[in-house]
Amino acid sequence: MAAPRGRSAPACVLLPLLLGFVLLLQGAPSQAGDTVAAGRPLSGGDSLVSKRGKFRLGFFQPDNSSDHWYLGIWYNQISLHTTVWVANREAAITDPASSQLSIASDGNMVILDHRRSTVWSTNVTGVVASNSTTVGVILDTGNLVLADASNTSAVRWQSFDHFGDTWLPGGKLGRNKRTGEVTQLVAWKGYNDPSPSPFSLELDPGGSSQYLLKWNGGEQYWSSGNWTGHAFTAVPEMTPTDASPLSKYTFGYVDGADESYFVYDVTDESVVTRFLFDVTGQIKFLTWVEAAKEWMLFWSEPKKQCDVYAVCGPFGVCTENALPSCSCPRGFSQRRPGEWLQNDHTAGCARNAGLACSDRDGQHQKNSKNDDDRFYTMDDARLPSSARSAAAASARDCELACLGNCSCTAYSYTGGGGCSLWYGDLINLQDTTASGGGSSISIRLAASEFSGTGNARKLVIGLAAAGSVAAVAAIVLATILILRSRRIKSLRRVEGSLMAFTYRDLQFVTKNFTEKLGGGAFGSVFKGSLPDATPVAVKKLEGVRQGDEA
Ligand SMILES: *[C@@H]1O[C@H](CO)[C@@H](O)[C@H](O)[C@H]1NC(C)=O
Ligand SMILES: *[C@@H]1O[C@H](CO)[C@@H](O)[C@H](O)[C@H]1NC(C)=O
Ligand SMILES: *[C@@H]1O[C@H](CO)[C@@H](O)[C@H](O)[C@H]1NC(C)=O
Ligand SMILES: *[C@@H]1O[C@H](CO)[C@@H](O)[C@H](O)[C@H]1NC(C)=O
Ligand SMILES: *[C@@H]1O[C@H](CO)[C@@H](O)[C@H](O)[C@H]1NC(C)=O
Ligand SMILES: *[C@@H]1O[C@H](CO)[C@@H](O)[C@H](O)[C@H]1NC(C)=O
Repeated sequence: MAAPRGRSAPACVLLPLLLGFVLLLQGAPSQAGDTVAAGRPLSGGDSLVSKRGKFRLGFFQPDNSSDHWYLGIWYNQISLHTTVWVANREAAITDPASSQLSIASDGNMVILDHRRSTVWSTNVTGVVASNSTTVGVILDTGNLVLADASNTSAVRWQSFDHFGDTWLPGGKLGRNKRTGEVTQLVAWKGYNDPSPSPFSLELDPGGSSQYLLKWNGGEQYWSSGNWTGHAFTAVPEMTPTDASPLSKYTFGYVDGADESYFVYDVTDESVVTRFLFDVTGQIKFLTWVEAAKEWMLFWSEPKKQCDVYAVCGPFGVCTENALPSCSCPRGFSQRRPGEWLQNDHTAGCARNAGLACSDRDGQHQKNSKNDDDRFYTMDDARLPSSARSAAAASARDCELACLGNCSCTAYSYTGGGGCSLWYGDLINLQDTTASGGGSSISIRLAASEFSGTGNARKLVIGLAAAGSVAAVAAIVLATILILRSRRIKSLRRVEGSLMAFTYRDLQFVTKNFTEKLGGGAFGSVFKGSLPDATPVAVKKLEGVRQGDEA
């Protein structure tokens, strides 16, 4: 956005500037209307803009260090490029200048790459009448439709039936009762990688009215609960009488003969909002705050990052409220560090050193030269899923039971003969040192991980030298942390619900309401930031006898 946004600039200065900006937009060569037609393909840096200017369709590059390009839809009137839909999310093109979006001879909308081969198609069969021609139109709702050229109300295909990671107001997320098809939201794999992650959201294909969050199409890690008429049972803050931010939305569940679906809309049309299935495996409601040039989060589920199934991948360790939330345990390293940088941890961690025994051919084979495997114990952990129990009289027995099978990767002995064994990948391991309440788990590692030679010895010497400096730094840091935590301790997260704040908390979070974002009929909105760096917008009500609202 080139238009200056002086907060108190008088209208007589702003108006000519804005007019100039609008004229500039209209004169821009990339402006090609809102329609793609057979003789009018879209290519290179060209783009289409919806009638009232809300959304733009064109080729874009989420990560300019790679040559992956996609056809997508993004907001046209906000200053941060925010993609809401991607056509070819599984098939990137490399050269937008020689690729194009066009209408094929069978009437489908297609993306042709530089070799003129089809990398993506709306793929509608037999719907396009032989005589008619079709066009693609980007609408102000953010919906891309394929319709008859002579009558654009006759929609043959629409992007609102094929969501990506974003559910826009007016879109239907539901189930077609005739075909059994469900519309799904599937998160991006990484912040710059639109290809599908293992996380999906859909209306229960089994027929109930609950939304399910799933990993790999199977493992369910969150449910909205069933629709009660005005809210989902697990999302009580939707209830319209509630003073929660979600009450500014209208939600509707339609259970018809052919389809059942949910729709939502905002009561105030100037509010730019989206429902995002984030790379983190969490669903989020976000609102654009132009003055802050940021998307503000005001609702998400699951509330806890570590409740997302397998979010840190095999052998990854999740730590709640840590940044990043995933790490690798001792003896393991990030399997794909490049993906971790994009907040995609799903590939998990790989062993630094192979185990002494391998279980090939079902035989217990001890590799020559190596000592027996040993165990590294995490004292405070949420145990991974899918343990098997074994009989063991002592911790040593439990350890031996694990050592005795080459595919056993961890054990946990809880006393009184309770021995749990894990085979294969460890999934959903969580470090609960900070929150407490965990159990101990012993992870199988190669004996070489425990030898006190080489790097380990150098490390000890280095630590000794750095020790005195570190001690001083640690005391200073601890003092700062204690002082800060006194102030933020009362910021309590209400489990499974919205966060509740006291007035003092909000004063702290917003730096005593210093950064004003905007004003409304009932008060002003201020920018703030939670202790975990989550940006928030705080509305300060200025009427008499009204409560505080976050
Ligand atoms: C990518 O884009 C950013 C922001 O536009 C820019 O700062 C950076 O130099 C670009 N990198 C490359 C490799 O083009
Ligand atoms: C088009 O649909 C057919 C059958 O419905 C499917 O086999 C094919 O993979 C689809 N092609 C594309 C490009 O989606
Ligand atoms: C196709 O167009 C021709 C001439 O315009 C017309 O006579 C014919 O009825 C049309 N066919 C269909 C199936 O609409
Ligand atoms: C345009 O298409 C819509 C939807 O199929 C239909 O209801 C309407 O009658 C059509 N209008 C004309 C003029 O053909
Ligand atoms: C929702 O309703 C279905 C039956 O319609 C039931 O099987 C399911 O357990 C309910 N879900 C919850 C979370 O109560
Ligand atoms: C190791 O345990 C797995 C899982 O219980 C089992 O399938 C396998 O047969 C065992 N291998 C040996 C050599 O006992």
